[in-house]
Amino acid sequence: MNQAALHKLLASKRNIKELDELFELRLATNLTLIKDLFFSIYPTEEKAFEKLLKRMLVLFKKRPDVLKHQDIARLQSGNWYESERMMGMQLYVDHFNKDLKGLKEQLDYIEDLGINFLHLMPITTRPKGENDGGYAVNSYTAIDKRYGTKKDLYTLTQTLQKKKMFLMLDFVVNHTSDQHEWALKAKEGSKKYQDYYYTYADKTIPNAFEETLPEVFPETSPGNYTYIPEMEKWVMTVFNSYQWDLNYTNSEVFIEMLGNLVALSNMGVDIVRFDALAFLWKKMGTISQNLSEAHDIIALFRMCLQVIAPGTILLAEAIVAPADIVKYFGEGPKKGNECEVAYNASLMALLWNSIATKKTNLLYKSLTNVPSKPNDVTWINYIRCHDDIGLGLDDRFINELGWNPKGHRKFLLDYYCQRTDWSPATGMLFMYNPKTGDGRITGSAASLLGLEKGLKTKNERLIAQSVSKIIMLHGIVLSFGGIPLIYSGDEIGTLNDYSFLKDPSKKEDNRWVNRPKLDWKAVASIKDGKKASSQIYNNLKLLISIRKKNAVFADKNNLELYHTGNEHILVFERTSQKQHGLLVVCNFDESSQVIDSSWIAKLGYLKNQKYHDLIQQKTIAVNSGFIEVQPYQLLWLKKV
Ligand code: GLC
Repeated sequence: MNQAALHKLLASKRNIKELDELFELRLATNLTLIKDLFFSIYPTEEKAFEKLLKRMLVLFKKRPDVLKHQDIARLQSGNWYESERMMGMQLYVDHFNKDLKGLKEQLDYIEDLGINFLHLMPITTRPKGENDGGYAVNSYTAIDKRYGTKKDLYTLTQTLQKKKMFLMLDFVVNHTSDQHEWALKAKEGSKKYQDYYYTYADKTIPNAFEETLPEVFPETSPGNYTYIPEMEKWVMTVFNSYQWDLNYTNSEVFIEMLGNLVALSNMGVDIVRFDALAFLWKKMGTISQNLSEAHDIIALFRMCLQVIAPGTILLAEAIVAPADIVKYFGEGPKKGNECEVAYNASLMALLWNSIATKKTNLLYKSLTNVPSKPNDVTWINYIRCHDDIGLGLDDRFINELGWNPKGHRKFLLDYYCQRTDWSPATGMLFMYNPKTGDGRITGSAASLLGLEKGLKTKNERLIAQSVSKIIMLHGIVLSFGGIPLIYSGDEIGTLNDYSFLKDPSKKEDNRWVNRPKLDWKAVASIKDGKKASSQIYNNLKLLISIRKKNAVFADKNNLELYHTGNEHILVFERTSQKQHGLLVVCNFDESSQVIDSSWIAKLGYLKNQKYHDLIQQKTIAVNSGFIEVQPYQLLWLKKV
């Protein structure tokens, strides 16, 4: 029996009293794949496999009944995460409203905007001082006091469930902090726990690895190994020196981490964000990213979860080359058996490229060449997150446009990071490597799009332009197919927050510039329609409400890109078999642009020389032979 048929059968048994039966049934369906995956990673470990199966049963028994019922309901209701009703927001709990209780109290604000999905940044315990925003975890389950208690989290998840809101939390799967109990025991000399990490008595092996390993944080944490005097050993630390990479060649580590994953899911988490999952396997002579063994481990996690907690889905945080991202949806026997959701980092980088160049040529070239994703999986579409913006652009396509890749990247860094006078952007340069010229960009959406400069110089034109850009970029991610994710504060055009420069534990990491606290005063004056913040908020709220009313926005792999012959314009259609499709049109230039209406007529949109823009709520007749698109305007056109 295949998985879909099994789920149907289970779902049809509405009165399943013996929930425990589910375990056996699901295990029987998935056992072959679980076995294949396990033994391809750990070929000789029969005993460990038995241990895994036993542990899976224990973990299943620990799953609260209410969540077991939810699992059944989820399987029954199909791909809820592809719905047009999904609308996400990402936030740091303490930067939003103090703590978990404070967040619960202000859910109305989030709901008013139309949000029904929250990504809370890490809330578990972490080292004092530097901790990579909580991505250095001391524990996978203990809630850090600054956010509240387990009970507060439980109360929050109950409230979210009542409100039919979804929750995503991180699973920092690649590393722990150097103060996690495993690391502490390793430092005390425990061989068992030293083997949970990659530890070496001397630098022979590390040096060999370093030959090909890139550096993630070259400015603040150069190299990939750190010497730990307590154990007189080197440990692999690909990210910061206080983040120790877990050793997945050790099956114990996999089994223990599965326990942590299930504990997270049992807290009422709907989507688990697999942090930095591209790094899970290391091989000498490679860059140790995206290796096939890493995919096997992810699929093994997924398949074990399929037995224990199938209602929980996984998000791939793989900020890698476009062709590599789609692999996290699973390929071959792993197809559909890895992550259900992935960040659309390629679209994100290309949108920033289009803003700086005012052209959409690279965006078209790159998007038309991204391998298509399978059905039943979807994107998180976003314009920026808590991290830096990497220039994940394909040099091949930059070359094909007749541009020089190195020069082009320099232009983008100059444009966004205040290295030229004429640019409206006020971003910062992150992890610049003078040897290679590589660097990344930080800054809030509003500051990168010119609002900070506009307000500072009281330049009304710049302010108006930046407001339009903020709305247009969000409008694109809202209509692109997938789950749109807004960074908290961007909905009111929050500017860069420079306060991190005064905090010794943050000042070396300028990603904090784009993690501002929510300005509740600005929120209180949203009703004052003249302010930039109100215009942004009200327009985003309108776009979200339109998205939620139009099923064509649900992700059914129903997106077609169209070339219009105008290099400043982006047009794509969300096609539909049941209803008329919808054309998304936008202009990346600061002057009005035209599209020849005969071109759109070819698509059957202008038979009557009329279309309806869902955003402006007006029907427009096109008589003059072209459609005019204002600077940074977004249109959502339906055939009348
Ligand atoms: C992910 C997080 C980032 C963190 C890194 C290491 O990329 O998004 O903030 O620094 O993982 O955990």
